[in-house]
Amino acid sequence: MTSIRVTVNGRPVEAEVSPRQHLADFLREQLFLTGTHIGCEHGICGACTVEIDGEISRSCITYAVTCDGASIRTIEGFDEDPLMGKLRDAFTRNHALQCGYCTPGMLVAARDLVRRKADLSREDIRTEMSGNLCRCTGYVGIVNAIEQVMQETAQEARAPSARAWLGPAPGPSRQVAEVAPAAPVQARKPVATAPAQTKRTSRSPITVTVGAIEEVDGATRLMQTFTLPHPREAVWALMSDPVAVATCIPGLSLEPQRPDGTFPGRMEIALGPVKASFSGLGTVEAHPAEYRQVIEGRGGDKRSGSQASGKADYRLLADGADATRVEVALSYVLAGPLAQIGRAAIVRDLVRRVGEAFAQTVDARLAGEEAAPSQSFGAFTLLLQLVLDRIRALFAGSNAKRG
Ligand code: FES
Ligand code: FES
Repeated sequence: MTSIRVTVNGRPVEAEVSPRQHLADFLREQLFLTGTHIGCEHGICGACTVEIDGEISRSCITYAVTCDGASIRTIEGFDEDPLMGKLRDAFTRNHALQCGYCTPGMLVAARDLVRRKADLSREDIRTEMSGNLCRCTGYVGIVNAIEQVMQETAQEARAPSARAWLGPAPGPSRQVAEVAPAAPVQARKPVATAPAQTKRTSRSPITVTVGAIEEVDGATRLMQTFTLPHPREAVWALMSDPVAVATCIPGLSLEPQRPDGTFPGRMEIALGPVKASFSGLGTVEAHPAEYRQVIEGRGGDKRSGSQASGKADYRLLADGADATRVEVALSYVLAGPLAQIGRAAIVRDLVRRVGEAFAQTVDARLAGEEAAPSQSFGAFTLLLQLVLDRIRALFAGSNAKRG
């Protein structure tokens, strides 16, 4: 095995790889970035296309060891990229995907093309994209989508504001968002990462630590901890209210408590082509003397036929007079088609992201700021990861009844 250090989607990663392991396997199997697909493993189909140091490459014919020191960007790293957002929208509008297997590689290649070239004919677009094969949709929608985005970006470049740009190329209208640097992660190990920057509050980021995942009696369990810069009483006043808790979780909505003590709830999930709406009921068991609350619930998504049940058991520990450490024990069971997203690294990342959104929102509200959790983490990338997040939140939130 050989040690490598790479930056993947803005995060430093240290890992051990075997000499003949290709990059696609490394990304998928060690980092669980399964948006990079593998089709031919011969460098022909383009399904495995990623960016390496800013240039697109076939990850199936690139050894991971040769990437030591490189910066790699997979489809998951383009979530907040404006140009990729336009391409995703255009692909959707033009029905440019069917099974979606070729789509991650197709999008990465298309973005590279639109970024480099403008005003290509349809024939030229076909030629430029000939290294990416689609086996089921056909290419008309794909070419239409790329052509539209190319025209759109060309018009923006010709706009007066763009022509007036006197700074360095490519100028503001062609700039694309880069992935923000994040704290190091270790492949296959529990992570403690810096939270994503929130756009909705001026508060400092809150670090959320997510522990290792365990499987116990068929349920997936993990711990999440973070510290809020507020006294325990103030935190408890908010976190003992299940409806208030729900409003701090992205995608979750709770209805008022029923006479029987249950809370009907709904969790909306939207990741690119994957959409789900989990409806369910939950209960809440409060232990005020221990500053502890247990929220349990279960629900289902009619469209996919998936079922979910889960529990969030959280307690607040005073960390001095002005801070509170929040410990959350999460457990859940997923069944049905969406159960495939329950892989360890995906779940951890999801839980971390939801935890960050939740902690930031709670912090802002306790500081007297107006804050609402983001309703979208981005579409295509952390797709699965995000999905799970929301699902987990669903379980937790879509339920609650005071005991
Ligand atoms: Fe890499 Fe086909 S899987 S090009
Ligand atoms: Fe199925 Fe392209 S959409 S392979």
